[in-house]
Amino acid sequence: MTLPSKVRLVEVGPRDGLQNEKQLISTEIKVELIRRLVATGLQTIEATAFVSHDRVPQMADAARVMSLIQPLPTVSYPVLVPNLRGFEAALAAGAKQVSVFSAASETFSQKNTQCSISESLARCQAVVNAAKAHQIKVRGYVSCVLGCPYEGDIAPLAVAEVARALFDMGCYEISLGDTIGIGTPEKTKAMIEAVARWVPLKKLAGHFHDTWGMAIANVYAALETGVSVFDSSVAGLGGCPYAPGALGNVATEDVVWLFQGCGIECGVDLEALADTAAWISHELGRTPASRVARAILARRNLAVNEI
Ligand code: HMG
Ligand code: MG
Repeated sequence: MTLPSKVRLVEVGPRDGLQNEKQLISTEIKVELIRRLVATGLQTIEATAFVSHDRVPQMADAARVMSLIQPLPTVSYPVLVPNLRGFEAALAAGAKQVSVFSAASETFSQKNTQCSISESLARCQAVVNAAKAHQIKVRGYVSCVLGCPYEGDIAPLAVAEVARALFDMGCYEISLGDTIGIGTPEKTKAMIEAVARWVPLKKLAGHFHDTWGMAIANVYAALETGVSVFDSSVAGLGGCPYAPGALGNVATEDVVWLFQGCGIECGVDLEALADTAAWISHELGRTPASRVARAILARRNLAVNEI
């Protein structure tokens, strides 16, 4: 299988990466993180989420984040919205792209959004309809594509049905989320092949969390099936408040290193990204989860010590 020559990265660190942080992070830190991510060459950065403040307190400053980020012609800042109310708030805050989300598991849908899958699809449809009137592009997420924290295994057909519903209603791209990072490469391929019967491969994105350490292997498996858009999070930040135990997204540094090794273009400066990973990790009081970031930083220290 020939791998794609180019991929598009969707950086989800400021949203998925930070939404589950227990310590409240200042708006200024979030905005500075976005500025540094832009400086690495990333062109799509999911900036925040217009969701219930009670349920996800970390995202309560969504409008303020949007008011402080620098608009640039080459960079898009999609935001997550669960319903029409979130869409209207995002619109008022100046968002030009939004993402809606549903799940392939009924229980997860209830826990995450207090509604069934079909109710959540109806909310997504309402957002898509409203967005059309404002020429706003809508991306769709499907959660629990390789397993659910409450229901266990999820059938690829269940994923395909939700992905198809989101695509048919007008989402321009469907991001397939392994919310609890439990997938393995063969399962990943089978799931993508099931979805691709109804949604063109070019319209699919991979969104892998790394709880079981398989995220980068799953990215490679998805690449082999022909997927060429990937969500990732600087320093491997991330987790979903309603997916107990789920760890961060695949680290952006790790996917960029993988792509470089495969000769795949992604337009990101890996050294600058490692610096950003070190910076945000320091702000959060930890070291980057990314092995690649740690290796780059260690190599630099070694070089300095040798002088
Ligand atoms: P609900 O309780 O059914 O909503 O929550 P409701 O309509 O009954 O309203 C309840 C309260 O929330 C009301 O406030 C509403 O005004 C308010 P009150 O009158 O009680 O003071 N409300 C809102 N506030 C702000 N923004 C809004 C909004 N809507 C209602 N948009 C709801 C339903 C969907 C709103 C809620 O469950 C929610 O916000 N859930 C979001 C959960 C979330 O953000 N999860 C993480 C993101 S998804 C994820 O991480 C997975 C992903 O990364 C892919 C993957 O890894 O799989 C995308
Ligand atoms: Mg996620």
